[in-house]
Amino acid sequence: MSIRGPLVVLEGGEGVGKTTQWERLREWLRASGQTVLALREPGGTPPGDTIRTLLLDPVGALAPETEALLFAASRAELLTRAVRPALAQGTLVLLDRYLLSTYVYQGVARGLNTDALRAINQFATGGLVPDLTLLLSLPLDEAQRRTKARGAPDRLEQEPDGFHARVAAGFSEALTAEWQQTHSECGPIVLVDASGTREEVTARCIDILASRWPEHFARPAGITSQTA
Ligand code: TYD
Repeated sequence: MSIRGPLVVLEGGEGVGKTTQWERLREWLRASGQTVLALREPGGTPPGDTIRTLLLDPVGALAPETEALLFAASRAELLTRAVRPALAQGTLVLLDRYLLSTYVYQGVARGLNTDALRAINQFATGGLVPDLTLLLSLPLDEAQRRTKARGAPDRLEQEPDGFHARVAAGFSEALTAEWQQTHSECGPIVLVDASGTREEVTARCIDILASRWPEHFARPAGITSQTA
């Protein structure tokens, strides 16, 4: 672990239960004595929340380039105001989405040029690389069933099935060694099977954190491991 606090990111397509796991992990980390700052992209700052409204407005229309720049602008604000100061104090930052989402949604699914996305995000992030990304994965039909059951889709959720299939394919590709070598700005990305109960999925995430940082993430009583 670096001198700064660890930066842990949760990623995944719509309907995989990512935000539920982000909340559960935040609570587990706090219960295990970690100082945690849990933030969501896009948003997390007053300007970022305004940008979030623009990005997710179901009746809004945005050019793909505008969309990519707005995600990057929200990210720049979040990093400057919240993430970097917290990391500098040794706080663990748990982010619900980061740069990988941009490569997958704006790159693979929208078809924007990877080098352009890399350049605007290098500018936005100053090259802040996550220590670990947990990529939650579910079969696409199961994830879509869960998303539809939530109702009131936002602008990205209401994209056609083909868009979400490209998102799923983009996330799968990000798990390959070759992709991770050519996108080192995303840091290491590890698959988490998001099927089963929320407790089972949390335990899988904790197992990964605990095996990566055993000195920092000893399992507290009451949390059972998948592998123990
Ligand atoms: P949100 O309501 O936070 O959804 P979720 O719970 O799925 O994270 O909406 C965020 C949406 O923005 C989601 O559809 C993914 C998308 N997104 C991008 O397209 N690019 C990005 O860089 C980020 C961070 C998110």
